[in-house]
Amino acid sequence: MSEVREHDSVCTDNSDEFPYKVPGQYFYEGVLFNQDVRKSVLESRDSIECREDDVFIVTYPKSGTTWILEIANLLLHPEKLDGGSEAQERSVPFLEFHLTGGSVDHIENMKKMASPRLIKSHLAEHLFPTQAFTKKSKIIYVGRNPKDNAVSYYHFYKSVSGFGYYKGSWDAFLQMYLKDHIVWGGWSHHCLGWWKHNHESNVLYLKYEDVKKDERGTVEKIASFLGKEVDQQTLERIVTHCSFESMKKNPAVNREDAADVDSSVSPFMRKGIVGDWKNHFTVAQNEQIEQYYKERLGNTDLQFEW
Ligand code: A3P
Repeated sequence: MSEVREHDSVCTDNSDEFPYKVPGQYFYEGVLFNQDVRKSVLESRDSIECREDDVFIVTYPKSGTTWILEIANLLLHPEKLDGGSEAQERSVPFLEFHLTGGSVDHIENMKKMASPRLIKSHLAEHLFPTQAFTKKSKIIYVGRNPKDNAVSYYHFYKSVSGFGYYKGSWDAFLQMYLKDHIVWGGWSHHCLGWWKHNHESNVLYLKYEDVKKDERGTVEKIASFLGKEVDQQTLERIVTHCSFESMKKNPAVNREDAADVDSSVSPFMRKGIVGDWKNHFTVAQNEQIEQYYKERLGNTDLQFEW
């Protein structure tokens, strides 16, 4: 297990340093949130009921959540390959989220769901429902290298209402990112916090870059983690269904009609590659993030490729 220092799991409220405010922003135990994240969920995390056979997909935003969710959903319910296309955001509860102005209560819906429940979350490890650990619910964590992650999150900030349709510069965004002043918290705090559980049998820790290199191998790995046997034909179909090209065309996952996303600013399924950071970072910005990476992850055994 890597060395995770106490300060890797939280950062201090640094709101005064940054002029840009997301709608309804607040800090909670070292993590910045916006109005769409329900404080009541954070406050009640010790009493949220989890089940042994729950499957949580946990990620830092923009790390491939939708992709891995889709794979897991089809492995749990292969019949969906032939069914209609219910939007993922409607069929999979998003633990801590409540779209402002919307009527969906994910916590209430979760109580009524049949097992095994598939649940999405972006929560940092120290804010996660405690029963998920005591009951050893299944958790699939997905991390992504910070360079591509920051670029992807920047485009998301610009196109989503919960981030106030950010209109600032890429550089101003990057400075917030490097100082952990980002909704759902700092990147390094998040991926290191969850890395502490890497060797636990109920946790599967994936990296976007590895999934990209071997999509079929990843589907097989997730199937084995979930204890699902799939025949070759089903496996092929899931791999094809979950390719970037298919998902970009699939209205159930590309969020073209989502009320909170303006896909004319940036489509949800944007590039889907490793290395898009090269189109955004200046030499100086690259040096800055490499320094950040060295400081935060340098003495740990968690490493990312880009
Ligand atoms: P980019 O913005 O770099 O294109 P999340 O689901 O966590 O919000 O992550 C979104 C990121 O994952 C986006 O990255 C999106 O394009 C990428 N993504 C989604 N589905 C993918 C797939 N099937 N293959 C590769 N990347 C995918």
